Amino acid sequence: GRIFPVARSVNVTVTGAAGQIGYALLFRIASGQLLGQDTKVRLRLLEIPQAVKAAEGTAMELEDCAFPLLEGIDITDDAKTAFDGVNVALLVGARPRTKGMERGDLLEANGGIFKPQGEAINAGAADDVRVLVVGNPANTNALIAQQHAPDVPAERFTAMTRLDENRAYSQLANKLRVPVTEIKRLVIWGNHSATQYPDLTHAVVGDRNALELVDDQEWVENTFIPTVAKRGAAIIEARGASSAASAANAAIDHVHDWVNGTAEGQWASMAVPSDGSYGVPEGLISSFPVVCKDGKYEIVQGLTIDAFSRGKIAATVAELEEERDAVRNLGLI
Ligand code: NAD
Ligand code: LMR
Repeated sequence: GRIFPVARSVNVTVTGAAGQIGYALLFRIASGQLLGQDTKVRLRLLEIPQAVKAAEGTAMELEDCAFPLLEGIDITDDAKTAFDGVNVALLVGARPRTKGMERGDLLEANGGIFKPQGEAINAGAADDVRVLVVGNPANTNALIAQQHAPDVPAERFTAMTRLDENRAYSQLANKLRVPVTEIKRLVIWGNHSATQYPDLTHAVVGDRNALELVDDQEWVENTFIPTVAKRGAAIIEARGASSAASAANAAIDHVHDWVNGTAEGQWASMAVPSDGSYGVPEGLISSFPVVCKDGKYEIVQGLTIDAFSRGKIAATVAELEEERDAVRNLGLI
């Protein structure tokens, strides 16, 4: 069923709107790729005061596209205003990692941003609000925001691992020389970081198991997993800036599937608050295979997790626990 009635416009708030992901994301939202071609959108752009002028420039360009679905654009540097009545919140604004930095370095710098934003979502968001955190360290930033929004159902706070999933699809498609459309149920577990686990064990190519088709555990362990897990750093190294258009594309995919549902027989990777499934401690925002229907996601249950996968999942979950403990010690949650 549809969750946003056709007659109503949906309030979509994008933080960090003047940044590079914002520039790749806003035009796609306004053109209907986020929610669907029948859903009108009102955009709210949140920026820091120094970047409001640049956001205004982007808004001028959005206007110049004359998008039929775009009902209006508001720009603010005030979180309360930005999240008042928000239905879909895309928390992108954060300090990106630069060459040589690890995500841990960002915890303190970015943690401070997500507490007030969580509070503002708690104060003013619409009852049906859905939140996607893109800004890194995304899982832990989502946890911080969620902890400051006690009146919003916890499961509405999610973080993005869809870019990792999409990267994994392309790597596998290249290896097997098949179109990406042949592949299904290739998913990411854990943290959006170098410890993530891109899991081939449940993936299928046509009607065959991906792992059997690859038949090369050395490639899986020493090429596939590290290539996907370190792709963010490789992009920074090559581009001199972190991934932007591919990140915006993944954000569109994440929210589109959440709102409109995953295709029959398909799974998506979303970092969501754990319900204890697969031994992931309850409350940690960790990536799982999910299916989406009627605007809700459910963690895929009953999968057989082999010994190698168990070790990989345990390692990435341990990192998430360390990040949670670090922000706890900083008083951020
Ligand atoms: P950017 O520096 O180009 O843009 C970030 C924007 O956020 C800037 O315009 C800045 O002014 C703004 N900002 C900073 N603090 C803010 C606040 N408190 N409120 C509102 N806006 C604020 O960065 P980018 O390349 O667009 O990347 C944004 C974030 O996304 C980074 O943290 C990056 O690491 C992350 N990222 C995540 C993924 C993922 O897969 N989860 C992928 C790529 C990038
Ligand atoms: C990415 O995965 O491209 C981003 O999270 C950027 C980064 O810091 O790796």
